Amino acid sequence: MTTPPETILAHLTDIHFPQTPLPTLSEFSFKRFFGLLNWHLSRKSMHLTETLAAISKDVLSLPFHHLIVSGDLVNLSLRNEYEAALKWIEQFGASGDISFVPGNHDYYGPNPLLYPKEAMRPSINQAPVGMSLLPFMISDEKGLKLGGATGPDLPFVRVVNDVALIGLNSGVPTPLFKAYGKLSETSLDVLKHILITTQKANLYRCVILHHPPLPGITTLSRGLQNDDLLQSLLQETGAELVLYGHNHKQHHEVLRTNTGTCHIVGTPSASIGQNNRYELARFNLFSIRRSAHSWTTKMRGRGLCENHGDVVDLGTSELV
Ligand SMILES: [Fe+2]
Ligand SMILES: [Fe+2]
Repeated sequence: MTTPPETILAHLTDIHFPQTPLPTLSEFSFKRFFGLLNWHLSRKSMHLTETLAAISKDVLSLPFHHLIVSGDLVNLSLRNEYEAALKWIEQFGASGDISFVPGNHDYYGPNPLLYPKEAMRPSINQAPVGMSLLPFMISDEKGLKLGGATGPDLPFVRVVNDVALIGLNSGVPTPLFKAYGKLSETSLDVLKHILITTQKANLYRCVILHHPPLPGITTLSRGLQNDDLLQSLLQETGAELVLYGHNHKQHHEVLRTNTGTCHIVGTPSASIGQNNRYELARFNLFSIRRSAHSWTTKMRGRGLCENHGDVVDLGTSELV
């Protein structure tokens, strides 16, 4: 008897790319001014270039099929920040092998990299045109047939072996001192359709978004405004795994759905090398394998155990 193939997903989040230039005059806003102040007074001492480099090197030394980056790629969503962050992403492979969903820090101002002019819109596996994040957040050919959209606002689908990756954009521009997210009504409708078609296609459904997907995981001012609707939808249609970031904390909980168990997993930031408020840098590898009548999902953590420490193994557990 042959062993069913295994799919390995690497999940990194909240990169907060640790190089924050000054906004240009045309990029200036109060939101960015206070974000910059916060960067220099607080975040800069936590999100370290050397930590992100060590995590990245470790990721590259391990086997995986697909890399997921779930938002807060940068701090102020400035063009210069994105140009550096895009170079960082590209070291891991082609855009067809990497999925990105935006976070609240990716909406600090107008974002030309998420919304390039129509003529500049790239397609999957095409080199970024005019420096765009879109190639990392559009459906592939199989995903389009399953109801996935072409981004950046509506859910995209990518099929990796027998795993369907479903990316949601929960990022919205927010007022000062707010960090909430929201899924549009159309997004939820498209997501429902995708969760049904991917289940019919006998695929493992892995949903990705930046904000925590269920009520109660974070405060109202920084949570997903319609997390109750997303929870109900997940309970109704089912999904096997939901990956998120935003909280900079490792978290696992189980949601019972009409199709079985859905694992909800939050991963800490990938760049925190000095801990004063949040958990130290970590990323997770998910190994997914089809079993007799269901799926087996194993999570392996890699990250720092001490300030400025090396990247070490944080253990493997089966999600049950
Ligand atoms: Fe973050
Ligand atoms: Fe966030």
